[in-house]
Amino acid sequence: MSTFKAPKGTYDLIPPVSVKFLAVREAIAAPLRNSGYGYIETPGFEDVGLFARGVGESTDIVSKEMYAFETKGGDQLALRPEGTASVLRAALEASLHKKGNLPVKLWYSGSYYRYERPQAGRYRHFSQVGAEAIGAEDPALDAELIILADQAYRSLGLRNFRILLNSLGDKECRPVYREALQSFLSGLDLDAETVRRAEINPLRVLDDKRADVQKQLVGAPVLRDYLCDACKQYHEEVRALITAAGVAFEDDEKLVRGLDYYTRTTFEFVHDGLGSQSAVGGGGRYDGLSEMIGGPALPSVGWALGVDRTVLALEAEGVELDIPAATSVFAVALGEAKPVLFGLVTELRRAGVAADISYGGKGLKGAMKDANRSGARFAIVAGDRDLAEGVVQLKDLESGEQNPVAVTEVVEVLRAQLA
Ligand code: HAM
Repeated sequence: MSTFKAPKGTYDLIPPVSVKFLAVREAIAAPLRNSGYGYIETPGFEDVGLFARGVGESTDIVSKEMYAFETKGGDQLALRPEGTASVLRAALEASLHKKGNLPVKLWYSGSYYRYERPQAGRYRHFSQVGAEAIGAEDPALDAELIILADQAYRSLGLRNFRILLNSLGDKECRPVYREALQSFLSGLDLDAETVRRAEINPLRVLDDKRADVQKQLVGAPVLRDYLCDACKQYHEEVRALITAAGVAFEDDEKLVRGLDYYTRTTFEFVHDGLGSQSAVGGGGRYDGLSEMIGGPALPSVGWALGVDRTVLALEAEGVELDIPAATSVFAVALGEAKPVLFGLVTELRRAGVAADISYGGKGLKGAMKDANRSGARFAIVAGDRDLAEGVVQLKDLESGEQNPVAVTEVVEVLRAQLA
């Protein structure tokens, strides 16, 4: 043990579990790469104002959970709590949104930071893979993203997740609803903090998990009844496209989400095996965000899937990922054979074969243990006597069969066997 520990709310990804995280990231990225999304990487910190304006001053993410700090040079920065505002900022800065180039479809993968109260599935440092389709108002884009997330989860073997879908309306109809909701909320018996929230962001009150609040919310006006015709039609088109793709979803008129930039389509992927932190991913349309951060009108839609929670969901379902062993060939060098086997391992690696060798001068028993632990299919074992004869012993670790193979041929033989 060192004197130091990982900071509260964080954890280290270490083998063998870390390989699951790589597999999850890859499984989410693959369908995006395959659907015209280009990879983008942005800095881990940004001007704090980007999130204050983009995500919203009234959200918990900005008001309570942001790692904001002043640099030695006096800049006000924040560790990124989410990816959408940064990706849009970067796209605008690089003028990716030129006419004729829209939508700009981007995907990303990285670490995000929120100063939350840690609990199972809720961390202060976590990992997301996200996708943003910037600059087009087209129900097919909303549908595409939902279908791709569903495909990613299914490719991992996840089954017990649900897709919750809602429309939050647009700048025409939402204010009317907001007012109706506010007037309903003003007649309830709420604590001071909730009253304040009702003033700033009344829709968030609908999301309150407390039973006594939920009880009072029975009969609250629902946004669906206030949607304008354009929003209604847009939402019906999204629903029809997802349905046609065979992706099941549930209409959830209470789905609000914790970020202020959403308009129209919003959705969440929830997993029932995760307890209270059940959202494995979420997203929606954010038609006004570009203007909120000083850009032109660029209606956009996107999602981010939580890698940590997806791994937890896989564990909850007992899904074993089919992850190939990292090593195919393991070399066990005895006596003076090390330089020759080290040379063979180098050659194998250059030929694209995953190979490793025992280090630290271990004897046959210890080195064979390493070989078995590595998951390799073959071991090449050699001592002084083998080398004098110009051979190594090629051992099939599955069948236990062992045969001498000429040193000059072993790379070719192994390549053929592993092909
Ligand atoms: P979000 O719902 O805040 O959305 O986060 C997306 C996912 O990140 C969550 O569903 C969850 O799996 C994971 N996540 C969030 N906070 C934590 C945490 N403290 N610990 C572990 N996992 C966490 C966004 O971030 C939006 N930027 C999504 C989006 C993209 N909307 C449009 N485009």
